[in-house]
Amino acid sequence: MNERYGPWALVTGASSGIGRGFALALAERGLSVVLVARRRALLEELAGEIAARFRTRTRVVDMDLAAPGAAAALAAAVSDLEIGLLVANAGTGWIGRFDLQEPQTHSQMIRLHCESTVELTARLLPQMKARRRGGVVIVSSAGGLVPLPYYALYGATKALLLNWGEALAFEMKDCGVDVMVVAPGDTKTGFQEVAGEMSSRWSSVDEVVSASLEGLGRKTLVVPGLENKLSLLAARLLPRSLLMRVVEKRQRAQTPRERR
Ligand SMILES: NC(=O)c1ccc[n+]([C@@H]2O[C@H](COP(=O)([O-])OP(=O)(O)OC[C@H]3O[C@@H](n4cnc5c(N)ncnc54)[C@H](OP(=O)(O)O)[C@@H]3O)[C@@H](O)[C@H]2O)c1
Repeated sequence: MNERYGPWALVTGASSGIGRGFALALAERGLSVVLVARRRALLEELAGEIAARFRTRTRVVDMDLAAPGAAAALAAAVSDLEIGLLVANAGTGWIGRFDLQEPQTHSQMIRLHCESTVELTARLLPQMKARRRGGVVIVSSAGGLVPLPYYALYGATKALLLNWGEALAFEMKDCGVDVMVVAPGDTKTGFQEVAGEMSSRWSSVDEVVSASLEGLGRKTLVVPGLENKLSLLAARLLPRSLLMRVVEKRQRAQTPRERR
């Protein structure tokens, strides 16, 4: 791992959930980790845990990645480090009808999921290409596989990551840089509470992180869990109108009544 993706990994959204799981798993495999999110106290707590358990180094960068210019500021904050692996994971959701969502949150979500991820990748790729080794893990969502009522914009931003990331994986094939998109389904993290979602069937963070790290360097798209793999198949095989009826029903059941 260290030889291919070390010495430093950078994980966005490391203060909670899937990002926290990636940071711990990468530290366990011997990588030093840059921990990025807004909640500094949680990042420092994680840095302490990594130091105690794995003795690898960490750097904490507290930053709002939805703020204009964030990706450039983050790249500058790590310009002295050799980043061999980027895990672009920070993300957030709000379940409900698009017209009920606060308008300013639309551009924040686009900046966080799309602009920041694309710009950060663009800023870190040249060093990886020059060294002819490295990796980029882009955390999209199973929600990016289909148009997603009640998560319309969220799903669309994740679709951008999915299509862009998979295409990038092919472009980078001969450059020695492994690009991989991860499309998790419902996973038990802080996400549901922030989004106000009423899910009841979840994968664990460990399942998502293990499937991702197993796929890194071998696959361009990882869809953890059987149910999500079936969703991928359905998205590719079912007529769009039938697919949308099934998806809408499932999404409606997860959306609080006052947001439908
Ligand atoms: N959980 C699921 O069911 C699920 C399913 C599919 C895809 N995903 C994707 O998985 C990724 C991780 O989510 P999670 O499930 O682990 O949720 P989570 O536990 O809520 O973690 C989200 C992480 O993103 C960070 N973040 C959010 N907004 C940010 C901002 N403006 N600037 C910097 N960091 C920010 C949060 O840190 P701070 O709040 O400290 O900033 C936190 O560390 C997201 O991209 C999500 O879309 C999740």
